[in-house]
Amino acid sequence: MSILRSVITGSGSYLPPNIVTNADLAKKVDTTDEWITSRTGIKERRIADEGVLTSDLGTAAAKDALKNANVDASEIDLIILATATPNRIFPSTAITIQANLGITKGCAFDVQAVCSGFLYALTVADNMLQAGNFKKAIVIGAETFSRIVDWEDRATCVLFADGAGAVILESQTGGEGTLADRGVLYSHLRSDGRYEDMLYVDGGPGKSGTGFLKMAGKDVFKHAVSKIGSSIEQALSDNGLTSDDIDWFVPHQANKRILDAVAKRIKLDEDKVVVTVHKHANTSAASIPLALHDAVLDGRIKKGDLILIEALGGGFTWGSMLFRW
Ligand code: ACO
Repeated sequence: MSILRSVITGSGSYLPPNIVTNADLAKKVDTTDEWITSRTGIKERRIADEGVLTSDLGTAAAKDALKNANVDASEIDLIILATATPNRIFPSTAITIQANLGITKGCAFDVQAVCSGFLYALTVADNMLQAGNFKKAIVIGAETFSRIVDWEDRATCVLFADGAGAVILESQTGGEGTLADRGVLYSHLRSDGRYEDMLYVDGGPGKSGTGFLKMAGKDVFKHAVSKIGSSIEQALSDNGLTSDDIDWFVPHQANKRILDAVAKRIKLDEDKVVVTVHKHANTSAASIPLALHDAVLDGRIKKGDLILIEALGGGFTWGSMLFRW
């Protein structure tokens, strides 16, 4: 049997050069390095300069992924951008990235699932490739969360940051239809709008102004651990796997304590957890591809490794995915 799989053939990233440490933040709001580190694991984050847009970060990450996959932009027929911080209401920011890359065929659109955005976008791209209408996709997570946090609210502004990551997803035949295949093997997406008031932005076209991010931190923490934990348990049991079968766990980088609690719940060896939250903070939809590319660059993730990703974001939206590198 030879079945079609969506295989990640390269990854890339881009971080704005401006590093803001916890000590820098402590000069602006009433906080300390000790508070931020002990509650979140975050030590520093990148913040885009004024005038630098989500499309700029996303374009740079996409170019890096194209180079690493050895794919020319002209071969791309699908661009999906996960972002909650688009350049403007419309057109989509993916369209701007498409133009920046000089691509004039296929289609480009945004997916909005906040911190779960990359997981959603990868699932949508996988399904479009599986349906046979598209061959090569760029899936990007890019965010400028510094534009939607209230820099006077110490409870939220210390958590979020800017950045972008991307992968090239190619439709390839030759899979055996088993978990030994390379490519996307399984995804589990969920949402439940009853929780929309726990994490949201209080602005937009239906309100006045862009608004600021609002969060019930303790509630988000509890839901994140339980919902992500359940999603992963389902992913493992649906595939007859245990956490020992996972080579690398690349979670959404919200908070080191959430990562530790989820890894403990699913009994995963902590050495298998890819952690970048200390240097990137929470870059929402960009955090998984940023972390993924980090582990590819330093040689941890190798061809044939089984990767587990997960996320929870505003909505709530959440889920998990298994793919073989
Ligand atoms: N510096 C110093 N003190 C602070 C800060 C700060 N930056 N922020 C809040 N405090 C104070 C509070 O005012 C409060 O003071 P009080 O006791 O005098 O009232 C005290 O610290 C404790 O505040 P809590 O909100 O109870 O702190 P908690 O221990 O819950 O930690 C945190 C807050 C880190 C936000 C935690 O709830 C958390 O990690 N939640 C998960 C949120 C998250 O990761 N969201 C990301 C988006 S969703 C996602 O990506 C999964």
